[in-house]
Amino acid sequence: MSTAADFTVRRARLEDAAQVASLLAELGYPDNSIDDVRLRLATWAQETAGVVLVAEGGGQVVGAVAVAAIPYLERGGRSGRIVALVVAAGRRGQGIGRRLVEAAEEAAGDLGCVTMEVTSARSRTESHPFYRNLGYQEWSDRSARYLKNLPPRA
Ligand SMILES: CC(C)(COP(=O)(O)OP(=O)(O)OC[C@H]1O[C@@H](n2cnc3c(N)ncnc32)[C@H](O)[C@@H]1OP(=O)(O)O)[C@@H](O)C(=O)NCCC(=O)NCCS
Repeated sequence: MSTAADFTVRRARLEDAAQVASLLAELGYPDNSIDDVRLRLATWAQETAGVVLVAEGGGQVVGAVAVAAIPYLERGGRSGRIVALVVAAGRRGQGIGRRLVEAAEEAAGDLGCVTMEVTSARSRTESHPFYRNLGYQEWSDRSARYLKNLPPRA
């Protein structure tokens, strides 16, 4: 999809599952088995309104981002939502996160998105300056986030 000095951004493949699982553990989700992640990558591969991209460098998956395109009702177009973003701890600060977000924006634009959004825990101190640096404006004083867990289905 795109190349920089020492990494390439491309669509995730099922065989990336083990390395994506490690990245998700770094993101704070250590309980995903490789099979879980492989199944989810298979689901995303069928998804027509979203994509998982990875950054590959030196034969390793060193970053991942997922983006979903949600249609607006109150206006035209869709909103792109970054679902997860992580760069391997040893490869941060090298432009990989920026390139993953740029590639996610490009993919979202291809899916008809006119805006992008992301939520990020207050505890993720490094991500907030990162997003601001990439042109994202903090919106939380205008829009609260509400979340409810739904009961599991059999
Ligand atoms: C946030 C994260 C994805 C950034 O990835 P990265 O590869 O280190 O970021 P980049 O090197 O591409 O940085 C892009 C720009 O943001 C800036 N930036 C990155 N981290 C920053 C920080 N902590 N403070 C200030 N600026 C920062 C960089 O200086 C760079 O600016 P430039 O392009 O103008 O020189 C990475 O730190 C990470 O995976 N963190 C843990 C998981 C996480 O918080 N994910 C977000 C969940 S919503």
